[in-house]
Amino acid sequence: MKELSGKTAVVTGAASGMGLAFADRFARAGMNVVMSDIEAPRLDEAVAGVAAHGTRVIGQVTNVADGDAMDELGARTIDEFGAVHVVCNNAGVAGNVRGGELNVAEWKWVLDVNLWGVIHGHRVFLPLLVEQGEGHIINTASMAGHLPGHGAYSASKWAVVGITQGLFHQMQGEQTGVGVSCLCPGFVSTEIHNSDRNCPEEAAPPALVEPSAEEEMRFNFLADMVTSGRPPAEVADMVHDAVLNDTFWIFTDLGMVQALKEKHDSIMENRNPQFPALPQQ
Ligand SMILES: NC(=O)c1ccc[n+]([C@@H]2O[C@H](COP(=O)([O-])OP(=O)(O)OC[C@H]3O[C@@H](n4cnc5c(N)ncnc54)[C@H](O)[C@@H]3O)[C@@H](O)[C@H]2O)c1
Repeated sequence: MKELSGKTAVVTGAASGMGLAFADRFARAGMNVVMSDIEAPRLDEAVAGVAAHGTRVIGQVTNVADGDAMDELGARTIDEFGAVHVVCNNAGVAGNVRGGELNVAEWKWVLDVNLWGVIHGHRVFLPLLVEQGEGHIINTASMAGHLPGHGAYSASKWAVVGITQGLFHQMQGEQTGVGVSCLCPGFVSTEIHNSDRNCPEEAAPPALVEPSAEEEMRFNFLADMVTSGRPPAEVADMVHDAVLNDTFWIFTDLGMVQALKEKHDSIMENRNPQFPALPQQ
């Protein structure tokens, strides 16, 4: 897209962290913004802050895992603004960051939000963008969608990277005029390490109820990495520029990107992979 001013952006997970920064950045670019999130009070506060830039900003409480709620988000957007141009499928949860036993309900929660949220975002908004012949979808994946991992978060983000690249090729092949970006952040200073605040009761793993000392240590390590990560506003600038320049990959941590080479090399050399060396924060 070459011009954003006067157009409409939808952002999921917009009450906090990167989603809030995206909404803010697009409003500063002159866009009207639909901010959606599962957390109602924080969303109200976030909407008031973003609306201060002077464009029309509305909030819609939405659980991205709920297909009907996502249909309502699409319908409200069209009712209010008549069109949608930029869609950030961004809402996500980290799952059980303390480790512990594999928990089926927790896997379902993480996949429902991180993967199905994106699938519903495509289902609801993509036909509108394609029909219009203009628009851009940004899916928030993660470096965890490229690096080895065996938890639900990793599975969800690998899936998001895969379907986002697939969508990019489809949109290009069919010459729809719809751009696609895959955002793969390293650590960004948000509330993601506290995402169990939105965990449905049935998905809470035992570790969340009574964490062991080792599980607490894992949490503290992740919390430190996240809180010392990049400011969300810097990532929002990258996303804004990617829409204008039609850039597919958005990596926020080039040191971590270097670690991906080991996988590629191991495939090309037909040898077993080593665990990639990650840069120190
Ligand atoms: N912060 C990082 O280091 C990092 C790194 C890589 C990827 N990510 C990804 O970035 C995205 C944004 O997360 P963040 O880091 O800004 O964290 P955050 O917790 O600050 O923001 C996430 C937002 O999503 C909302 N949310 C949670 N469940 C939801 C649901 N079911 N429906 C709708 N909204 C829901 C939360 O209420 C919150 O406002 C996520 O997809 C996350 O996986 C974050």
